[in-house]
Amino acid sequence: MSTQSNMIKVAVVGGEGIGPEVTTQSRRVLEWFAANRGVPMTLRDAEYGLIPYLKTGKVLPEDTAEAMDEADAILWGATGGPETTEVPAAARKAGSLLGLRSKYDLYANLRPIAASPSLSASAPLKAEVLDGVDFVIIRELTSGIYFGEPRGIETLHDGQRRGFNTEQYTTNQIRRVARAAFELARTRRGKVCSVDKANVLETSVVWREEMIALHKEEFSDVELTHLYVDNAAMQIVREPRQFDVMVTGNIFGDILSDCAAMASGSLGMLPSASLGPVDRYGRRKALYEPVHGSAPDIAGKGIANPLGSILSVAMLLRLTLNRPEDADLLEQAVQTALASGARTADIAEAGAKKLSTVEMGDAVLRALDKVSAKENA
Ligand code: IPM
Ligand code: MG
Repeated sequence: MSTQSNMIKVAVVGGEGIGPEVTTQSRRVLEWFAANRGVPMTLRDAEYGLIPYLKTGKVLPEDTAEAMDEADAILWGATGGPETTEVPAAARKAGSLLGLRSKYDLYANLRPIAASPSLSASAPLKAEVLDGVDFVIIRELTSGIYFGEPRGIETLHDGQRRGFNTEQYTTNQIRRVARAAFELARTRRGKVCSVDKANVLETSVVWREEMIALHKEEFSDVELTHLYVDNAAMQIVREPRQFDVMVTGNIFGDILSDCAAMASGSLGMLPSASLGPVDRYGRRKALYEPVHGSAPDIAGKGIANPLGSILSVAMLLRLTLNRPEDADLLEQAVQTALASGARTADIAEAGAKKLSTVEMGDAVLRALDKVSAKENA
């Protein structure tokens, strides 16, 4: 075997809007780990979105597709923006993020929510509600109403238009994401809360029954509870501390994870990992991205919060590189930077100095040097 065999390939795709700005900072963090901790990886940068569309007619040009195909991990920025109008819908769709999630079968989307003690002054929820919040939403990412058929827009006989989509889940689609949730809970506080709308939707009836069946068959050591999605939204802002692992379908997970972002202070803070199936060599494709979108209103201004993307690198270190100590180190460095007062505009309390995206990247790198020096002392 070559000495390169442990090299992990990372495709860095900043994309659109604030994506490239925040990803530039998380890329610096990745390079810090390669230089200072000997993390074995190669980085390959690739373009996505309007810029390559103008050059090649494709939002996802061949070179980018190849970089992503060969990568173990994709560090993704963001997609979309006001410029979407400049890219015809069909071209958008051909290289869409949803298409990529589907192509790589990234069915398990992990969105951890942790309250940062130093952000309680600027957080929208009260400090006593946020204190100690630490849970993970696992959102099913490749099925449900996002992908269900039939779907479309039709014109009715009376001239009205009718848009329609199909919510659907099969046994296997439910069970594999349920398994991801139960397995994760075993490494944490041992609790899974499954969220559905089983009082109304057949899809949810099947969802709940499969959860219960798999739990009984393989995971009876884990505590399983169920909430209807409306109640779950309320509980997330009322008492988020009650949750350990929350598992739900695609659209409920989309909505609840934005809601849960408020329990971590700002949407700008939230990382995510989207994981595919484990192959016969024990590898699994993964895409890491901040939960926030392209934020076109602040794109190019250099004021976006890069911490969602930087914390996604911590997930990459933990889940793809299998380097839990390095992941902890990075999370600690982010908390150290915050504790020393580093704030971008979205998390700044009244009167606090607002750092630029680059300055926040600098603050995290300084904190990494400091935290690792302490560790080595
Ligand atoms: C997310 C986003 C995406 C989604 C959009 C950009 C398609 O909101 O990752 O949460 O709805 O899944
Ligand atoms: Mg969303």
